[in-house]
Amino acid sequence: MKDEINIFSPATVANVSCGFDVLGFCLESVGDNMLIRKTKKKGIYITKIKGDFDLPYETELNVAGVSALAMYQTLNVDFGFEIEIDKKIKPGSGIGSSAASAVGSVFGMNQLLGNPYNKTQLTQFAIKGEALASKCEHADNLAPAIFGGFTLVKSIVPLVILEIPSPSNLYATIIHPQIEIKTFEARAILPKTIPLNNAITQWANFGSLIHALHTNDYDLIKQSLNDVIVEPHRSKLIPYYNEVKKTMINAGALGAGISGSGPSIFSLSKGVETAKHVADNVSNLYAKTGIAFDVYVSKINTQGIQIIK
Ligand code: HSE
Repeated sequence: MKDEINIFSPATVANVSCGFDVLGFCLESVGDNMLIRKTKKKGIYITKIKGDFDLPYETELNVAGVSALAMYQTLNVDFGFEIEIDKKIKPGSGIGSSAASAVGSVFGMNQLLGNPYNKTQLTQFAIKGEALASKCEHADNLAPAIFGGFTLVKSIVPLVILEIPSPSNLYATIIHPQIEIKTFEARAILPKTIPLNNAITQWANFGSLIHALHTNDYDLIKQSLNDVIVEPHRSKLIPYYNEVKKTMINAGALGAGISGSGPSIFSLSKGVETAKHVADNVSNLYAKTGIAFDVYVSKINTQGIQIIK
């Protein structure tokens, strides 16, 4: 059995407009690299963090460390693990930075142990790491990172994850304005109750979106990508949100919304050419704002987290 393994841990888009806290999808071209190594010394150690971010080395304070510990506590082994993180996804970006760290450690450890745990069990461990960052247990970034494609978190207790098919010509365009929004702060501004008519609109859109993904119905995806519950509150935190959304849709996107808790904004398009056209238009718009940003175009990553050969 191998003693160390390199992992690509992908970025993800959670919520997908109408699926707050339950729906997410996995990106192909953005993610962290991680190395997990067996050590003679027992315990979990974060030994290297690359990237220009101020992340803690203390295992109990590091998202990757906390999820690794959750798994380690279930093992009866006379060795430990070291974790090296090459952090490429900026924390607080809205594309699952903490989820990528949380799943990378447990996926890598599982591989080195000969895969005793299934994907749902890995997600269960990773929830502990994610909760450190967002102060709440949710799995809508973790599940797509581990399973790939679109996933629906049916329930947290017990943890039930459904894999939803991805239409093969569906591409995401993401703009990431370089400001940080902390998930727990973006959660704190949400109302505790919602009007019944908004709930009806949201679950009609959500059901339609799931149906559209199953039936490759791009037109229905377009009609379903709406969020009447969360977007009205969180969009205020994102500079030029309405302009970006309008630009993406005018450029041909099926729909656009806040990626996770923001500030990233995602759109979905039919075909890579349209997704690139959306990227060009939104880049031209945002270049005028004076706020630094990144733009990504990605096919839906149906494989999820991977071993780097
Ligand atoms: N569903 C979560 C939220 C995703 O929107 O708060 C962010 O981690």
